[in-house]
Amino acid sequence: MIIAVDGPAASGKGTIARALAAHFGLPCLDTGLLYRAVGVQVLRDGGDPENEADALAACAFDDALLADPELKTEIAGAAASRVSAIPAVRAALVARQRAFAAQPGGAVLDGRDIGTVIAPDADAKLFVKATPHVRARRRHDELVRLGHDDISFDRVLADIRARDLRDSTRAAAPLRPADDAALLDTSYMDIDAAVDRAISLVEDRL
Ligand code: C5P
Repeated sequence: MIIAVDGPAASGKGTIARALAAHFGLPCLDTGLLYRAVGVQVLRDGGDPENEADALAACAFDDALLADPELKTEIAGAAASRVSAIPAVRAALVARQRAFAAQPGGAVLDGRDIGTVIAPDADAKLFVKATPHVRARRRHDELVRLGHDDISFDRVLADIRARDLRDSTRAAAPLRPADDAALLDTSYMDIDAAVDRAISLVEDRL
């Protein structure tokens, strides 16, 4: 069983994907981490996240980087959004994501193009969304919790809008729901309600 969970930043898709994985007993891959690792590696190498040669070289990042807390920062997210618009970078990360999806018992993957590109034959596809304001509020609360209280709400909202625009207008695998995805708007749901709804949407599709 393959479950694809796509959606914009801070929509709740990561939490929902992990909860689905726990519920159905499947491994889970947060594919955003791969793009974040490439973005952080480019910056560490002194390269430009919009330069194809720099970004491609960074695709050879060491796996240990995937566990680095630096990947969670807004700087990493912005660099990820830039490298991920480069088709050669996306191509370099496809095999790894498909191999994860092809594990014997199945898997849950979350990202932007799982239902459209990585696993178009997934058994269940969810597209998780929420208004930019709600997502910025969640991301800002999380940053404050992590001690980054020097960043304003307006700045987080502007970053979210910029990332949405870049992710949905790029030519390579733009952020969009697959035609057969179930839409889940979490704007006015708490996380428990969103997870319950996600489980029932997946069960409906099996
Ligand atoms: O989901 P997360 O915020 O960690 O993703 C960081 C960035 O990586 C996104 O803004 C997007 O540009 C890119 N990404 C992508 N395709 C994926 C996952 C993430 O393009 N499957």
